[in-house]
Amino acid sequence: MHPGWARASRQPDAVAHLLAAEHSTDSALLPDAMTDRNRRLLLLGLPAAAAAIVAPWWWRRQHAGAPHAHRAAQPATEAATASSPGAQPLRIPGRDGLLADVPLSKPLTLRAQTGEFPVFAGARTRVWHYAGEHDGRTIANPLLHAARGDTLDVTVANLLDEDTTLHWHGLHVDEANDGSGLHPLAPGAQRHYRFRIDNRAGLYWYHAHPHGRTGFQLQHGLAGLLLVEDDEERALRERLGLEWGERDLPLLIADKQVDAHNAIVYRDGADDWIGNRVLVNWTPEPTLEVLPALYRLRLANVCNARLLRLAFLHEGEVLPFRLIGTDGGLLAQAWQMEDVFLAPAQRLDVLVDFARVPAGARVVLRSLDYVPMENEDESGALLPDPMSDHPGAVPMGAPLDVMQFCVAGCNRDTAASFSMPVRVPATLSRLPPPPDTAGWPVRSLRLRMDEEGTWFINDWNFHRDGHAPAFTVKRGTREVWEIRNNMTSMPHPIHLHGFQFRTVSRSISPHDVRSRQVAANGLGPQDLGSNDTVLVWPGEIVRIAIDFSQPYHGTQRYMLHCHNLEHEDMGMMLTFAVTD
Ligand code: C2O
Ligand code: CU
Ligand code: CU
Repeated sequence: MHPGWARASRQPDAVAHLLAAEHSTDSALLPDAMTDRNRRLLLLGLPAAAAAIVAPWWWRRQHAGAPHAHRAAQPATEAATASSPGAQPLRIPGRDGLLADVPLSKPLTLRAQTGEFPVFAGARTRVWHYAGEHDGRTIANPLLHAARGDTLDVTVANLLDEDTTLHWHGLHVDEANDGSGLHPLAPGAQRHYRFRIDNRAGLYWYHAHPHGRTGFQLQHGLAGLLLVEDDEERALRERLGLEWGERDLPLLIADKQVDAHNAIVYRDGADDWIGNRVLVNWTPEPTLEVLPALYRLRLANVCNARLLRLAFLHEGEVLPFRLIGTDGGLLAQAWQMEDVFLAPAQRLDVLVDFARVPAGARVVLRSLDYVPMENEDESGALLPDPMSDHPGAVPMGAPLDVMQFCVAGCNRDTAASFSMPVRVPATLSRLPPPPDTAGWPVRSLRLRMDEEGTWFINDWNFHRDGHAPAFTVKRGTREVWEIRNNMTSMPHPIHLHGFQFRTVSRSISPHDVRSRQVAANGLGPQDLGSNDTVLVWPGEIVRIAIDFSQPYHGTQRYMLHCHNLEHEDMGMMLTFAVTD
């Protein structure tokens, strides 16, 4: 994100001009974008005349000189305005290209490769991606769509000139199907993944995981989403009247450092890689035109290092939302929230009711400011300026606009059918409460940095200490892992491969975390779900409960690591083994 846009969003009058200037030379994206948009309107069943209304009012206002709250129906030709510079529609799962929606009902081959895409205005951007074909269409980083119980059958071919992998983030898999850096895929090689998906319904993801190069390869694009559905999930969606791809949408959020030629830049060996542009579903400065209705948004933080504190804002006021799910699927009940931390690799499932703002309003999804608590640099002034690698990037913890929603006016018929109040059921899913862990063995894991600036989990650094398992867990046992973060540290999103876990307590939490507590033992709403990544703040002690039951045998090795990808690549990772 360049700071201009963040500023502009607080001054709507300036937005159109800023955006128009940026997109002035781009045309490659627009025809596709229009097709998507029109298709979506068709799906929504809006009459053609109503299509005009959903052109972003704040943009039209600038150019038509209409009065401030203008949202009257426009002639159908006005819809063309939506394809003008400045109205970049959010990419939604489609039939081809980036984020193509692909069922996992038959075997699929994905090629890790590079290619050029019209991501930003002007020059195309070289993107590292997983490419394939589905039903004769070319797909890139597809959203893989599965039902619980389906067999995933994916072959990955490495057409890059360096090692890569494809890791299934959040899934219950054996070592061979995990795709971690323990099994690198050499240039020219192929790997066949085949396993039964037995995770709960939810939004998972997949990404490259080569030792020491994960930060580089993800920053350049090697990541995609995996949606799992089940009966419980379908029942809820039906009850809320949400159709996937219409009012149930993924928002894959990633920041990229982009140079003047639209190239994504990365420096190996850098710390915390934050970027000057924010992409949602590979769309820069995106707008989604929404109906005044309930929407379900599946947020995924796919940033290398940027921690987000997300809120929906209408004219500077917070629009509360309901948190209904986390990494591993639905919560037992919904929680009303005003903002939520979303760390790299985490996912959140939220309901936002756009009927609560006036038709024609604009709602901004913003990362609010927070205290980043980067306490590790005791030597302060001697360290190089961390921003020198990231010209134009909003610093960690500063406010950052992610995207905006334009709430359409509706004709009377559609307004009636969409403004019906929806009651969110008191029970969303059968997720049990966090287990009582009295008597479970406790394993302590301490996060720290030494004087040389090397990150450790206890005394292990993956580079220094190698890939052999740091410890072994007996299959079928249940353990509490107590993760303590040093005060001279920073927030670390700690990720466990192969298992989902439950968070059972947080203590010595900073104010921002304590103030969000809703349950005993310091837990916030997000902690009450099933998760594969947990954010541990400086000074904090977080206990997670893990059930190591699994239908495999022999030795299965997995990783535990920080999902700040620069920390991971610097060795803040260990291997552990599950054995009979
Ligand atoms: Cu999402 Cu070990 O990774
Ligand atoms: Cu993972
Ligand atoms: Cu970290």
